[in-house]
Amino acid sequence: MITESELAKLSYPDAPNIITGEIPGPMARKALDDSFQYECLARGAGRFPVVFDDGLGATVKDPDGNLFIDITAGVAVNAVGRRHPRVVAAIEAQLHKLMHAIDITNTRRIQLAKKVSAIMPEGLRNNSVSYFTQGGSGALETAIKFIRRITGRTQIMAFHGAYHGVWSGCGSLTTGDQYRKGYGPFMPGVIHVPYAYCYRCCFNMTYPECDLQCAKYVDYVLNTPYTAADDVGALIVEPQQGEGGYIVPPPGYMEALKSACDKHGALFLADEVQAGTGRTGTMWSIEHSRVVPDMLTWGKGMGGDMPMAGLTMRADLAEKIADSSQPNTFAGNAVSAVACMANIDILTENNSEMIDRVAEVGEETKATLMAEASKIAYIGDIRGRGLMIGIELVRDKASKAPLEPDAVGQVVMGMLNKGVIMVPCGRFGSVLRFMPPLTITRDYIDRATDVLLAVLRTI
Ligand SMILES: Cc1ncc(COP(=O)(O)O)c(C=O)c1O
Repeated sequence: MITESELAKLSYPDAPNIITGEIPGPMARKALDDSFQYECLARGAGRFPVVFDDGLGATVKDPDGNLFIDITAGVAVNAVGRRHPRVVAAIEAQLHKLMHAIDITNTRRIQLAKKVSAIMPEGLRNNSVSYFTQGGSGALETAIKFIRRITGRTQIMAFHGAYHGVWSGCGSLTTGDQYRKGYGPFMPGVIHVPYAYCYRCCFNMTYPECDLQCAKYVDYVLNTPYTAADDVGALIVEPQQGEGGYIVPPPGYMEALKSACDKHGALFLADEVQAGTGRTGTMWSIEHSRVVPDMLTWGKGMGGDMPMAGLTMRADLAEKIADSSQPNTFAGNAVSAVACMANIDILTENNSEMIDRVAEVGEETKATLMAEASKIAYIGDIRGRGLMIGIELVRDKASKAPLEPDAVGQVVMGMLNKGVIMVPCGRFGSVLRFMPPLTITRDYIDRATDVLLAVLRTI
């Protein structure tokens, strides 16, 4: 049984603690000046004014010694928290044995492939093979090629609000002006359709009266001569949308998408890079539905502190891919593989009690936020599952006009100055994402939500 006091030992105590008055402090300011001069700011969070120097569990320190509660988990990466002692021990042991093995396989990566198959959703479980990459983009990039080779079809369907990476192939599936502007033309053969974003339904309908109009539209597009029926190889979908705004689709949506795919011979790929690895209170977010995906991409929280990602697919599909046709020098690095296995063990042992706790703590957090939502003018919507909760900020609850970026920036800065790191996402950059490490204590969640609500009351 996991106890709060055991979890508390995984993080620095007494967070948050801001000793420089304002963020960034002098040392962080100097580091940021160097970053702005020598790093290309196309990197994530280009001018975000925080520098990480040390991290433990759900806490991070900057170079000035300011201690923060981290509600980003490195964008869902640090599922078991930073530097979990069991992950560190696994890495240390492996450092003395084997690190790199090129794409010739190694004992650790074989163990990992077996373990990944064993934790797949039922249907893929122990009936799937994995292709390893170093990050989510590589997994999606590979998926695009495999889908085409397996199905002989050229087109791929993705969703408005989707984020699948920024490389040439997967970046063509990603929407959002900030990732696309000036980088085109993109890969041809991508069809984007609306996601089930009920708070801002593009059909202006309400669930359940809508009868899942958006899923019916997908079925229609898959079957119209105008979009080359029988030429869509796969539908690629985030079962809970991440960068698009932490959107939870309504019940029945995933099932309706899958049955449209089955009807028209398209594969179904669940992109679990952000919402997977226990984050939503189930190992995979697709497990909130009854859908068995044909392919599943994973990353972020699986490797945790180490880069590890992959594409796992039905074993029979993999037979259509030619041996040695897609080498990848650093794939399945042995150190990353043992870190990934340690992460999986921590999350899944004792009948996945850690993941069950995520579901519980997530419901408690949502309830706390919802109890306050009606009293705070700027909270438009609160949604999510487990510890993947979105708080959509609006200028006005009735019109749902998104809160302007400057005002969202004020909220984020207000929280940073009080020692809580949270980053926004969403169509308009106006959704705050609550996604701490899954090992965070209830105490730290309470402290972080107190700060968030206090800041929202004062803007
Ligand atoms: C759903 C999803 N897919 C793919 C990616 C790309 O992963 P990476 O940044 O590791 O390349 C991300 C990153 O945020 C993501 O959220």
